[in-house]
Amino acid sequence: MNLILKRQKIGFLGAGHMAQAIIKGLVESGVTTGDHILASNRTPGKLQKLSDQYKIQSFDNNEALVENSDIVILAVKPQDLLSAIEPIASSFHDQQIVISLAAGIRLQTLQKYLPNTRLVRMIPNTPAILGRGVIGYMTASPDNALQTMLEDMCSPLGYTLRAEDEDQLEALMVGCSSGTGFVLELMMYWQDWIIEHGFDEDTAKKMTLETFLGAAMLATQSKEVPLEELQSRVASKKGVTTAGLQSMRELEIERALRISFEKAAMRNKELSREIK
Ligand SMILES: NC(=O)c1ccc[n+]([C@@H]2O[C@H](COP(=O)([O-])OP(=O)(O)OC[C@H]3O[C@@H](n4cnc5c(N)ncnc54)[C@H](OP(=O)(O)O)[C@@H]3O)[C@@H](O)[C@H]2O)c1
Repeated sequence: MNLILKRQKIGFLGAGHMAQAIIKGLVESGVTTGDHILASNRTPGKLQKLSDQYKIQSFDNNEALVENSDIVILAVKPQDLLSAIEPIASSFHDQQIVISLAAGIRLQTLQKYLPNTRLVRMIPNTPAILGRGVIGYMTASPDNALQTMLEDMCSPLGYTLRAEDEDQLEALMVGCSSGTGFVLELMMYWQDWIIEHGFDEDTAKKMTLETFLGAAMLATQSKEVPLEELQSRVASKKGVTTAGLQSMRELEIERALRISFEKAAMRNKELSREIK
């Protein structure tokens, strides 16, 4: 347990999906308590819910939130971020820790608005709400104490890792944050096919979930075994699975998926250019 972290006031500027997932993880894991969490939001409904549930302190303006926080987590949509911080830039304390969750906004851009803060970019994904997220982060300048604190803060949310540079952080975003959406897309195809073969929707959904979960757990529990090796254990020569896999390769499913990953990465780059 990080006792320094426990004393910090963590302020969320924006109380949407990602802020709520992080608050849940921080409180339920005991990293901090609700009275050390502060939040502001454009409209008040979400704040009321969070204070009822976790006894957090809510603020009706971003300026007061920033002034009262040791760590500020910028949790608004990328297109709302710069207009939210620009008018209150002078409220940020010198050396205040500021963590941006925004996709597409690079550290260099944030530095223009908040030059004297200890800036961090962090990319979580939605399974963080269950403690099964992938959380990538990068600090604007080397800072071992800050890194330790970030890892202590995020480890209850899931697998936390430091990216070498922003390109790597953005690849993590496509692979793991957008990736969560891509995996759900694949799960829909599975479910539809099973329904077409006579199962009702609930059963098909359960079969799909257990197949994905089972495969992931099998791979998790056999960490040293390469994925190809695990796959070869379910695919005997000239067997049923092998026939399906051959077709997947002939149809170049990998190529189609790679193009989708690249499209997402390109959209991220476009966002970076649009928001400056
Ligand atoms: N969701 C993901 O999987 C994911 C993954 C990685 C990174 N992120 C990043 O996380 C950030 C938040 O995403 P999200 O999915 O949590 O979005 P979200 O659910 O839309 O939440 C954003 C919140 O910000 C509030 N807001 C907007 N402008 C504000 C302002 N000026 N001051 C105070 N609050 C304001 C909104 O208030 P209202 O209630 O009035 O709309 C909303 O509650 C984004 O930058 C996104 O790129 C998200």
